[in-house]
Amino acid sequence: RKIYYYPATASTNEEAKKLAGEGAHHGSLVIAEEQTGGKGRMGRVWLSPPRVGIWMSIILRPVIQPYEAPRITMTGAVAAAKAIRERTGVTCHIKWPNDILVEGKKVAGILTEMSADIDGINYVVMGIGINVNNDDFPGELKEIATSLKIAKGEAQDRLDILTGFLFRFEDYYNCLEAGEFKKILEEWRLLCCNLGRRVRVVGRNFTVEGIALDVDDDGALLVRSENGRVERILSGDVSLRA
Ligand code: BTN
Repeated sequence: RKIYYYPATASTNEEAKKLAGEGAHHGSLVIAEEQTGGKGRMGRVWLSPPRVGIWMSIILRPVIQPYEAPRITMTGAVAAAKAIRERTGVTCHIKWPNDILVEGKKVAGILTEMSADIDGINYVVMGIGINVNNDDFPGELKEIATSLKIAKGEAQDRLDILTGFLFRFEDYYNCLEAGEFKKILEEWRLLCCNLGRRVRVVGRNFTVEGIALDVDDDGALLVRSENGRVERILSGDVSLRA
């Protein structure tokens, strides 16, 4: 297991996929001070200015089926939310599928990518971005993004949050490998701010409005829609609004 550190790179996910393709080991960490082409979910850009955030990707070689991969992302979200709470005292929540919010604004996000073939998963790259000491956000991002510094009113220790995350993630990941995903899911539910609330899920070719009842083992959101039907929504190609 190695730590790959870059003063600047386009995207730690891209770097990690390259390294994984070249044989980098399970548990390797790719981290950068700055990303010049940081990627978010659904083709969005992830703003990653120098030295203010935690921009990292973890290379994993899990022995699971591809459909179980969302569990890894959920494990990452729980570890990140816990680490933020423990190391900064900031109250954050998980917004389905796996965004981390503070006072309704996004402070961290996860982008998981994988390579699989007929024999199963080759590797998983779980990328996490945490806005730690950003002072402000440009344009429209002001309304939807925040940082731990903005939330606390003072700069936070990136290394402390990073170590907190790595300890937590290792712990939860061992649970996952031991077949104890239920434990992680239970934590996830406690940290989630959508369950029991009204939601509107917008997909490529559908919109579902209703009450978010629960998440299941595959990370799917169960929503009771207006007409009483319970819809099961996979985190794939959708965004969630209040
Ligand atoms: C999202 O919420 O849209 C996911 C954001 C993921 C951002 C991280 S930063 C480190 C890693 N490298 C990337 O290019 N993206 C992820």
